[in-house]
Amino acid sequence: MSDPSAPSPLLQAQGVTLAFGGVRALTEVSFAVQPGSITAVIGPNGAGKTSLFNTISGFYRPSTGSIRFKGQDITRVPAPQRARMGLGRSFQNIALFRGMTVLDNIKLGRHAHLKTNVLDALLYVGRARREEALLRREVEERIIDFLEIDHIRHAPVSALSYGLQKRVEMARALAMQPEILMLDEPVAGMNREETEDMARFILDVRAEWGVTVLMVEHDMGMVMDLSDHVVVLNFGEVIARGTPAEVQANPEVARAYLGSGNVGELRSRLRAAGRARAEAA
Ligand SMILES: Nc1ncnc2c1ncn2[C@@H]1O[C@H](COP(=O)(O)OP(=O)(O)OP(=O)(O)O)[C@@H](O)[C@H]1O
Ligand SMILES: [Mg+2]
Repeated sequence: MSDPSAPSPLLQAQGVTLAFGGVRALTEVSFAVQPGSITAVIGPNGAGKTSLFNTISGFYRPSTGSIRFKGQDITRVPAPQRARMGLGRSFQNIALFRGMTVLDNIKLGRHAHLKTNVLDALLYVGRARREEALLRREVEERIIDFLEIDHIRHAPVSALSYGLQKRVEMARALAMQPEILMLDEPVAGMNREETEDMARFILDVRAEWGVTVLMVEHDMGMVMDLSDHVVVLNFGEVIARGTPAEVQANPEVARAYLGSGNVGELRSRLRAAGRARAEAA
């Protein structure tokens, strides 16, 4: 029996199946994200991680199954509305406006919140609008300060290093004031210092902003250090889930990554990957 005192999940995928023509990207995927957790989705290339993110944020519609957010079925809710409900995300391939400044990109994130319906628009006059503008600026300043990007606020995104661009993308996602922040490979292509900065920001986002984090990441060292809960996908199916320690000790996971069920080898590979990361800096 489930524990009745356990909090209900913030986000839940149930039996999600997604196909592109003949290719099944996801088969009956179910998992839950608990409020306040850092949950990671891992798996080999092509396992379906980004497809799962796109289904959760509403870019793809699953053929069967459902997505629930804060107890509500959002399977048929359009992507922009999901963003306004509190699902914020970044992209595997950075999706910033490269010719625009850092600040303008962040302001665009905030914009997701400002689209209002007609009734809201009628009520949304004078004083309220000024207060909204003030609050918005406060949020932007807090994010800029928090992510330590004040010195580049007026720089065009195209002039920034890859690591800084990833940070700006996170800033834009935070500007939506999400309840859950979805990060698709937040440290891919980063050097050690950038990776460690990003890991610290992810932990701080949860601690200081109370934001729940769902991330896809290939950097196993980081996944194992940061996550409370890990979901492993392989060929579109969930093959394991649990704490980082449980997942590392799971022979199915070793088979998916190494072709053999040798968990000892998986552990030593993960350690070697961690060392390589450290030396690459
Ligand atoms: N838009 C699409 N049209 C057709 N097939 C797609 C599309 N997006 C993904 N796929 C296919 O779905 C499967 C899962 O891809 P997906 O990008 O979700 O994997 P991934 O786990 O994110 O991989 P990676 O680690 O390389 O980012 C792959 O076989 C891929 O070719
Ligand atoms: Mg991907």
